[in-house]
Amino acid sequence: MEKVDYDARLHAVYGAGRQMSPDALKTWMEAFARHLPETRPLVWLDLGSGTGRMTPSLASAFGGPAHGVEPSDKMRAQAAAHAGHPAASGSAEHIPLPDASCDAALLFFVWHHVVDREGAVKELRRVVKPGGKLFVQANFSDRMPDTWWFRVLPEWLKVDKAHFRSEEEVKSDFAGAGWALVSRDEVTWLRSANLAEDLEKLKLRSVSVFEHMSEEVVEAGFARIESALPSLGDGPQYETSAMLVFQR
Ligand SMILES: C[S@@+](CC[C@H](N)C(=O)[O-])C[C@H]1O[C@@H](n2cnc3c(N)ncnc32)[C@H](O)[C@@H]1O
Repeated sequence: MEKVDYDARLHAVYGAGRQMSPDALKTWMEAFARHLPETRPLVWLDLGSGTGRMTPSLASAFGGPAHGVEPSDKMRAQAAAHAGHPAASGSAEHIPLPDASCDAALLFFVWHHVVDREGAVKELRRVVKPGGKLFVQANFSDRMPDTWWFRVLPEWLKVDKAHFRSEEEVKSDFAGAGWALVSRDEVTWLRSANLAEDLEKLKLRSVSVFEHMSEEVVEAGFARIESALPSLGDGPQYETSAMLVFQR
């Protein structure tokens, strides 16, 4: 599948379309903390940090520096302007940090974008301290989130699924290359306060599935969503994500 270019369009809509509430961020920080020692500070690498959605929370929850590393110039510019947390230019294949400098590293919705996975696994092993943790969060092709728009539009689910590796593939990317799988967690987090907020965010097209569908397919999908809305359950919209935890 063609590589998604965050400098083209997504950078401008990502912050608003993928915004997480303080409640959601707290859920994620608690999920990471379950797998980490209680000592503080802990130094984080937020790899593929994008617009800095998680980076400031990692720094404040764990009391240490959180190094955002991001290849897209325009995503980094958004992080500097809106997250108040600048990121360094770099990528999973070239992490601009010294050896054994991080207690924990995060790949949050990033691993499916990485092309040189073998090189990235080695780079992560280089910068994470012995005994340190790596959190890999993404959808898996065999475990997609049960969101209402995928129920309404199974054809969108099919397109999105094709982006992701299966859970076993992701496990095998790391296991055997100096990383031991120590846990598989499931995290249920508040995506939106209600259906209207979910739809407003979806209409910003800030998920990469929209980069792989024609305008015609997208418009027909939104029309079907509008007709299905009255029959959908409203109220807070939660999503359950799988998270793999590896130890170096
Ligand atoms: C879906 S966004 C996730 C951003 C952030 N982690 C978050 O959850 O908000 C994917 C990010 O991965 C970045 N990315 C793409 N290829 C990458 C690579 N090889 N190494 C590191 N990051 C990469 C993109 O530029 C983009 O900012």
